[in-house]
Amino acid sequence: CRVVPFLSRPALPALLLPNGLYLFSSNAICRLLECAGSKLPSLSATLSTLQMERRVLVIQDSPASGQNKCFSALMAIMKFYLAHLIVHCLQRADVPKSVQAWFDRVAAIQGCQAAAQKVLQGKGLQGMKNYMQRQPAPQSSQCRDTLSHNSSPTEVADVDSQDYVLTRWSKQNKSQVCVFPISLPQEGKRNILLTSALPYVNNVPHLGNIIGCVLSADVFSRYGRLRGWNLLFICGTDEYGTATENKAREEGLTPQQICDKYHAVHASIYKWFQIDFDFFGRTTTKKQTEIAQDIFWRLHKRDFLVEDTVEQLRCESCQRFLADRFVEGICPFCNYPEARGDQCDKCGRLINAVELREPQCKVCRQTPVIRSSKHLFLDLPKLEGQLDEWLDKSTGSGDWTANAKQITRSWLRDGLKPRCITRDLKWGTPVPHPDFAEKVFYVWFDAPIGYLSITANYTDQWEKWWKNPQQVELYNFMAKDNVPFHSVVFPCSLLGAQDNYTLVNHLVATEYLNYEDTKFSKSRGVGVFGDMAQDTGIPSDVWRFYLLYLRPEGQDSAFSWADMALKNNSELLNNLGNFINRAGMFVSKFFDGCVPVMELQQEDKRLLAQVGWELRQYIQLMDKVKIRDALKHILNISRHGNQYIQVNEPWKNIKGGDSERQRASTVTGLSVNIACLLSVMLQPYMPAVSQTIRKQLNAPESCINTMLQGTGTFVCALTAGHRIGTVSPLFQKLEADQIEALKKRFGGQQPAAAPAPVAVAETAAVNGADPERARQLTQAVAEQGDKVRTLKAQKAEKAVITAEVAMLLDLKKQLALAEGKSPEPTPQKGKKK
Ligand SMILES: *[C@@H]1O[C@H](CO)[C@@H](O)[C@H](O)[C@H]1NC(C)=O
Ligand SMILES: *[C@@H]1O[C@H](CO)[C@@H](O)[C@H](O)[C@H]1NC(C)=O
Ligand SMILES: *[C@@H]1O[C@H](CO)[C@@H](O)[C@H](O)[C@H]1NC(C)=O
Ligand SMILES: *[C@@H]1O[C@H](CO)[C@@H](O)[C@H](O)[C@H]1NC(C)=O
Repeated sequence: CRVVPFLSRPALPALLLPNGLYLFSSNAICRLLECAGSKLPSLSATLSTLQMERRVLVIQDSPASGQNKCFSALMAIMKFYLAHLIVHCLQRADVPKSVQAWFDRVAAIQGCQAAAQKVLQGKGLQGMKNYMQRQPAPQSSQCRDTLSHNSSPTEVADVDSQDYVLTRWSKQNKSQVCVFPISLPQEGKRNILLTSALPYVNNVPHLGNIIGCVLSADVFSRYGRLRGWNLLFICGTDEYGTATENKAREEGLTPQQICDKYHAVHASIYKWFQIDFDFFGRTTTKKQTEIAQDIFWRLHKRDFLVEDTVEQLRCESCQRFLADRFVEGICPFCNYPEARGDQCDKCGRLINAVELREPQCKVCRQTPVIRSSKHLFLDLPKLEGQLDEWLDKSTGSGDWTANAKQITRSWLRDGLKPRCITRDLKWGTPVPHPDFAEKVFYVWFDAPIGYLSITANYTDQWEKWWKNPQQVELYNFMAKDNVPFHSVVFPCSLLGAQDNYTLVNHLVATEYLNYEDTKFSKSRGVGVFGDMAQDTGIPSDVWRFYLLYLRPEGQDSAFSWADMALKNNSELLNNLGNFINRAGMFVSKFFDGCVPVMELQQEDKRLLAQVGWELRQYIQLMDKVKIRDALKHILNISRHGNQYIQVNEPWKNIKGGDSERQRASTVTGLSVNIACLLSVMLQPYMPAVSQTIRKQLNAPESCINTMLQGTGTFVCALTAGHRIGTVSPLFQKLEADQIEALKKRFGGQQPAAAPAPVAVAETAAVNGADPERARQLTQAVAEQGDKVRTLKAQKAEKAVITAEVAMLLDLKKQLALAEGKSPEPTPQKGKKK
């Protein structure tokens, strides 16, 4: 025996490794050799892992000094057993000399010989095996070991939940990640068919479109996959209709060329936003024609189509019938002057284009004339009974957002009228009926059929998804203006066609996202459009985060640059990023990159309970598609984590005595595990950041799949000894001047009366002095100045103050312009042009 450097007195025989490190835990030695045998992690990683366990091993071994005979005997047996196990593990004759020597030394210990004699009774290894088999199963997880030592009663009000979380925490689920290409519903699984409203092909989507449909659907789809649901996420561009014809005329291309061009634009925007469709298709396909015509004939045979002559607006100067979108006039119901030919944006009522007062062709501004033409109508009144019955069931059992239910109810309350499904156009799915040979299907009959035809382009077995209401649950994501077509018109087509279609179970509709204090408008150049987001230099994940944080869930919300900078800096950087980064840094700096041993105290258990609660809230909300609300719980977990670190000060404790150091290691170990949990919860929202965190923590893939099962399971995925990767900051600060530049760039020309004091600088510069504006701005500057002073007095977070100061400076600059002064001199760098 000799004295090993970190022990003050002779102890059990230690294994001397080639690198000069001593191992004196049989458990550690065994693991080392097992690892070396199965070549799992690299040997050096394992060695430093083992090194980290040093202190605990001393604690374990200390009773061997003779105080507790029973324990001592047990320890000896364990060592004896383990020594054999090692030899067995290695399965080879050439046991390293050092191991052999260690084994011999253990076997020579008196206590060990006596214990072995007692237990084995001369039966050797077989006796050992029998003995071990009668013992309780050895506990494999460090977290569990340390937890079981500490069973004092708890203080937290929700004791059940604490216990619950504790048992879950220590239960490591080693299930393998299995990612398989999903194509068809599977027996015994939750089969989810998920659609996002089909974007119209010739519009570049703006942020409001993106959050309303594809991004929301993407978050839910990613979440569903983590939950282990069998899920198919379908979307594509809606390509037929007058608007495409028109665009083609404008750009001197054929409609098909326009569609090809813009389909690619959409696809690339969604790719940049990391929208993870299973398939992103289009409606101008053979499948669309086949399926739409099939549904048409089925409706026709069952007498759900009626013929009628309609009066239509025709613009003589443009030489064509005017589609609804190309007429504008006064709403006959509410007198709104800019009502469209199909619907009034103000009162939301449906309009027949010919009912508009003072109609105008939107292209040439001439007054159109009324002409009559024969059309086919879907007999909605005849289908109303069936629809009612189905709606009761679907809204009763599914997750329909409140606005979706309310909009649907108000449609039904007004009574359904037959709805025209044909149009006098060329660019569309042809109506197969010989009497209507020159016509195509109206886009609202045709477009939702796109969900089916796009799926058909994805798999020949599309009917397994779309004609399988028993096995499949259908989620439709959209903005609220699309609701009636998904809750009334399209279901009526499918009900009338009587072919066992899958109808929507969960209709998820957002409200509107505004831009600063106005609406997104392509024509006025206001707002951020999908293709511009990428060249702001702000990462896609940060865009996703902010849009989801703002998701108009239950009420309208507004995008604002200043708020984006604030959220980026306060929530992402100071809260989430800071916590995850600190947790990782402590492991790297204080524990050589290896997760230290955790011995949970009361306070740690309380944190576990809090985190467990937040996790369960997150899951409950996500299950109900409350995407924005669920995100708040993620942020609250890191808030709890930051507080916990702040209170426990591991950077101080690490320099203290044994018990302080143990405290530092528990706090660090628990924090880094929370960071791992956060990476999983974040995955649906910020996939790239989530991946980066897991890479930095070197987190096992399996943790992704286990934590979001059932009601949520926070497992100790990074057990003591786990080696993490290289830690670095996740987010950068967005500087005030950067935000200001962006605001200018995307602000567009806002109406002068807009209360938001943003992006008017250019206008003012052009117009010269503007006394009214100057008066408003003087007041705004005064108010903003007060706000900044108050925040400073309250010692608010630096990021908050910085953002508010930036706004103040901006206001002052605008004020100078409005007063006809030149704005404050900007520092000139380099030569002037
Ligand atoms: C749809 O499928 C057809 C036939 O398989 C194929 O030719 C076409 O390219 C597909 N279209 C799209 C948009 O995927
Ligand atoms: C509808 O389809 C499901 C599954 O594909 C089948 O089990 C069921 O019998 C069908 N129902 C009708 C009315 O055809
Ligand atoms: C999150 O924490 C904040 C601040 O502590 C609190 O105001 C808010 O209600 C919490 N949110 C949720 C969803 O629990
Ligand atoms: C937010 O953080 C990212 C990186 O973390 C940074 O690149 C970006 O400029 C920041 N600003 C905004 C508005 O998000």
